[in-house]
Amino acid sequence: MKVAIIGGGPAGLYSAILLKKQRPDADIAVYERNRHDDTFGFGVVFSDATLDNFEKYDPPSYQRITQEFAYWDDIAVHFRGTVHRVGGNGFCGCSRRMLLLILQERARELGVRLFFEVEITDEEKFADADLIVLADGSNSRFRGKFADHFQPEVDLRSNKFTWMGSTKPLDAFTFVFQETEWGPFIAHAYQYEVGRSTWIFETDPDTFERAGLTGLSEEESAKRMETIFSEFLDGHPLLINRSMWRNFPMIRNQRWVKDNMVLLGDAKATAHFSIGSGTKLAMEDAIALADAMRSAPTIDAALNAYEHGRREEVEKTQHAADVSLVWFEHVDRFWDFDPVQFAFGVMTRAKAITYDNLGLRAPEFVAEVDKVFARQVRTRGFDINVEKPVAPMFQPFKLRDMVVRNRAVVSPMCMYSAKEGVPQDFHLVHYGSRAIGGAGLIFTEMTCVGPDARITHGCTGLWNDEQEAMWRRIVDFVHGNSAAKICLQLGHAGRKGATKLMWDGIDRPLEEGGWDVVSASPIPYFPDSQVPCELDRAAMSRIKQEFVDAAIRGDRCGFDMLELHCAHGYLLASFISPLTNTRTDEYGGALENRLRFPLEVFAAMRAAWPALKPMSVRISATDWAEGGLTGDDAVEVARAFGEAGVDLVDVSTGQTVRDSRPIYGRMFQTPFSDQVRNEAHVATMCVGNITSADQVNTILAAGRADLVALGRPHLADPSFVLRAAAWYGAADAYCPPQYLPGKEQIFRNSVRDRQDFEELKIKGKPKTRAELKADAKADPAKPLAAE
Ligand SMILES: Cc1cc2nc3c(=O)[nH]c(=O)nc-3n(C[C@H](O)[C@H](O)[C@H](O)COP(=O)(O)OP(=O)(O)OC[C@H]3O[C@@H](n4cnc5c(N)ncnc54)[C@H](O)[C@@H]3O)c2cc1C
Ligand SMILES: Cc1cc2nc3c(=O)[nH]c(=O)nc-3n(C[C@H](O)[C@H](O)[C@H](O)COP(=O)(O)O)c2cc1C
Repeated sequence: MKVAIIGGGPAGLYSAILLKKQRPDADIAVYERNRHDDTFGFGVVFSDATLDNFEKYDPPSYQRITQEFAYWDDIAVHFRGTVHRVGGNGFCGCSRRMLLLILQERARELGVRLFFEVEITDEEKFADADLIVLADGSNSRFRGKFADHFQPEVDLRSNKFTWMGSTKPLDAFTFVFQETEWGPFIAHAYQYEVGRSTWIFETDPDTFERAGLTGLSEEESAKRMETIFSEFLDGHPLLINRSMWRNFPMIRNQRWVKDNMVLLGDAKATAHFSIGSGTKLAMEDAIALADAMRSAPTIDAALNAYEHGRREEVEKTQHAADVSLVWFEHVDRFWDFDPVQFAFGVMTRAKAITYDNLGLRAPEFVAEVDKVFARQVRTRGFDINVEKPVAPMFQPFKLRDMVVRNRAVVSPMCMYSAKEGVPQDFHLVHYGSRAIGGAGLIFTEMTCVGPDARITHGCTGLWNDEQEAMWRRIVDFVHGNSAAKICLQLGHAGRKGATKLMWDGIDRPLEEGGWDVVSASPIPYFPDSQVPCELDRAAMSRIKQEFVDAAIRGDRCGFDMLELHCAHGYLLASFISPLTNTRTDEYGGALENRLRFPLEVFAAMRAAWPALKPMSVRISATDWAEGGLTGDDAVEVARAFGEAGVDLVDVSTGQTVRDSRPIYGRMFQTPFSDQVRNEAHVATMCVGNITSADQVNTILAAGRADLVALGRPHLADPSFVLRAAAWYGAADAYCPPQYLPGKEQIFRNSVRDRQDFEELKIKGKPKTRAELKADAKADPAKPLAAE
């Protein structure tokens, strides 16, 4: 078998090693245009987990790599004169040059043919090869040549960055956030060998411009960065090696394989340097390719298996890198934060590190985070303990005159169980049990303002006395038996109306017994859905009045709060999204026009709703679709509602159009809440795949939302909040007197359960390589277990 590998970076060399080990008889050649010891950049970093993988796949190169590595455990965040450190992270650094030399040596040993200073311009040169590996880096010539087939997407990010080195020693992965007269600069720095550290500098394009960096030579810009970061470099110089300022290319490819050619490493997909995973991805691609080649019967099948088996993992890493890079791009959002909260945000930005997890590694830091949060709550007029505060989830919050005892909310969820819009006993038990279960605030399901405003026959309504009476009964029960507040969500289904119950086919049109549906524009949801009638002014006025009438009934029921549903593609959302609003009157066109009707409805309801009671609006912050709403639009939408008097923006996403492409994952909508809260400066509630109290605390403590809604977790467990209160020892959590013995028991047991759990976690956690190295230093007779 003959294999030609174009590119002698980590992806090319490691795939050569693994394939040669697997097929010693194969003719494997690597072609690299640079000299063998000619490399840009300084260090690379790997996590302990990545090194475990290397150990499994090629122990000899692993041994050499780890001999050369610098290990460290801590992450340090420097911001406004403070430094916060967190241990237990397990990172290793090594020079890129050394890594490549080790891989070259190992490849040679195995019999791989290595060619340097050979630039490949045409794959025809390898017409007789069985497999051609395209590992030619982020500017891949061959990805470009076959762009029609691979369908690459190269998203050049806005921030400028450069990769420099220094002789400054560092004992932690260090983030420095430096204020300058031009704007914020960030350094991502780590030591990779004795006397050498990597310094990646990053800033936004405006700050770059204002700082006069445009057009400076490498030497000049290094001098400028030395001045900006002088207090952190301690007189050590910055070193340059092709240290040009660039924009990071986020690269993805629709296809990874063409005939017998396969993309690997940066040529195929990049991951932002802030999660240090580019080299990891490249080398793990090589592992995945070797695995596929080992088990598949033909090269075609192997390449197919590689692409299909590996894609999800790569996309997950890229998603984490995306979340992280966006955090750095928008660091100005958090610049006014308290340094402790800021540092907490840095640590938890990419979701892998959480509040509880930090609580184990750095309890004093998390205690500080809690205190900072509690002090902020106190400045809002709450007489709470700031010295030994409860976790953020159990801190109170106030909107107008409404006070909620904790930050956990039952998200609005249709139960599809009403009859003619009248809530049933099911609803009384459903809402009642969640109120008793301890949530601070409970939202009703989308309650419709008229019979033809319903999504389904099972939706609740509030347009007649019978409905009002049952809602009053529910509200009275909640107020009489719990400490929860209850918010009425009012909506109109628009073009998603006259559809089946969730369990009969969500959003599918009713075959019989439906009603005529309306929308901003006559565009059906599914191709076979009813074509909605475009609303005229008279119909808009009628519907606005229905919202007002329902709000007045809601007040009579005793609801504490009112939410206007402008999300998920329902009527008011259909006005806001450009994908569903193609009107040519003053309600279509620019965002300002598309918002006009939802704002009119909001203003009319606000005028009818008591001034002391708060109102929120639920929005879809993005349509997750080409040409649709984006996070930036959501900030504008939130600002407009904020000016109209909204107290809270309930930030959801999507469900506007059928062909949307949401990126799901843990807490996947939280970045939008973060953006809206910290750019539009309005209080927000976030929601979406938030499943644990740990995540709730992580979000709140990082200042990414003010309230956190949980939908499905509350369907599975009405006492979600009481359980969390027991876990965090929030003794003040409300419990009705009838249930007190249960509360006492769960609080008592939780202390022990938590201790057991933490001990298990600590005992079960393997030592990081940095810890093993420290142990070995203390006791030289003891071998390094992981090496
Ligand atoms: C600023 C910065 C910081 C980074 N920090 C880290 C980090 O801390 N940790 C980490 O893991 N990763 C880091 N990375 C990412 C890392 O450098 C890359 O992700 C990794 O090198 C990808 O490996 P690769 O083999 O796919 O590509 P490359 O390393 O780019 O190798 C491709 C090779 O192909 C050669 N080549 C290209 N075209 C041809 C041709 N036509 N003929 C012959 N040869 C050719 C090139 O000369 C090059 O040597 C960083 C990247 C940047 C830009
Ligand atoms: C069965 C069900 C019904 C829902 N009904 C509504 C609703 O009436 N109004 C609304 O705004 N969102 C509704 N949603 C969306 C939820 O409020 C929430 O945003 C979504 O479930 C994501 O949160 P989760 O991951 O915590 O479940 C519903 C979700 C589910 C699962």
